[in-house]
Amino acid sequence: QGLKDVIGKDMLIGVALNKWQSSGGVPEATAIVRKHFNSVVAENCMKSENLQPREGKFYFDAADSLVAFARDNNQTLTGHCLVWHSQVPRWFFKDKAGRTVTRDVLVGRMRRHIKKVVGHFKGKVRGWDVVNEAIEDDGSFRKSPFYSIIGEDFIEIAFRAAHEADPGAELYYNDYSLSNPAKRDAVCRLVRRLKSKGVRIDAVGMQSHNGLDYPDLSAYEASIDSFAACGVKVMVTELDLNVLPSPKGFSGARIEQDFEYHKRLNPYPEALPDSIYRKFEQRYLELFSIYRRHRHQMSRITLWGISDRDSWLNDFPVHGRTNYSLFFDRNYAEKPVVSKIIELWEGR
Ligand code: G3I
Repeated sequence: QGLKDVIGKDMLIGVALNKWQSSGGVPEATAIVRKHFNSVVAENCMKSENLQPREGKFYFDAADSLVAFARDNNQTLTGHCLVWHSQVPRWFFKDKAGRTVTRDVLVGRMRRHIKKVVGHFKGKVRGWDVVNEAIEDDGSFRKSPFYSIIGEDFIEIAFRAAHEADPGAELYYNDYSLSNPAKRDAVCRLVRRLKSKGVRIDAVGMQSHNGLDYPDLSAYEASIDSFAACGVKVMVTELDLNVLPSPKGFSGARIEQDFEYHKRLNPYPEALPDSIYRKFEQRYLELFSIYRRHRHQMSRITLWGISDRDSWLNDFPVHGRTNYSLFFDRNYAEKPVVSKIIELWEGR
């Protein structure tokens, strides 16, 4: 049996797919999705730079294949993401002369993008990450162009536009480091403010790009309770575990020049030692026991990738590392952690 056969009784269990996987081109990936998951999300192909690279020119082919993949393999589909300061095309904030656009122009562009995209996928996407990463770790608004040009109500405008375009779709706010109390409180304030104005918001997405020793698990668990107390569901939207050290002050250039430093960042180029694998497994089991305990407050857990071969963590913060962050190794072989999570969820 797969993860979905046990976790699926309580909530969705999903995975992010890259465009090679979601076009059906990777048979190992398709088999894993069918066995273990009931929900998929695009790792990149539904982001604005891919959907609308030039103003008014929309390219839906890759995302449409994902829709077909989800339909053919019986998967619920999440839309990721409508408004994000990253992976947004350059033209979005500039006029033809290269000047920063006015508030009215940016509101218009943002609303048009949302209306067109959400309208295109109407009835096919269960819910949207409407706004991604708008709050800083200290709880202030991120000084993104959306915030700086429009003001904090860009968030409300975005949620309203998404709802107008598909009143049946769930709407989510998604962010990272949400166990951080200042950030958690700011997101709670945001959720309450939206709700008090009658704006639809169904869930908060905790990205959960975790490591072996972060976040603090009691703070992480407290955040699940806090968001649920605001009257929304909690979703774990981008789960993975970085097993490599990320010392402060790294930079790609420095690493290429400094082999010793590189080795420190990438200490297990051949294979993950058993001792670290055990920590990795233990950490995932701790996380899933938290999710199980909070299953009534949660609606989804999504892994940010299928196999270690494809993880974004291989390229972050430097390109070409070997990370070991997911449930399937570089050859798509299942790690023992998967059956342990199934046992844990069944209460065995
Ligand atoms: O597809 C192009 C390819 O044509 C080109 O040759 C190559 C050259 O670098 O780039 C390829 O695009 C890359 C893309 O991933 C697909 O592999 C982009 O450079 C790269 O920036 C992009 O990274 C993605 C990242 O978001 C962008 O910020 C990661 O795959 C994706 O996993 C990551 O996901 C984000 C979530 O959306 C939001 N939360 C954080 C999370 C991790 O950063």
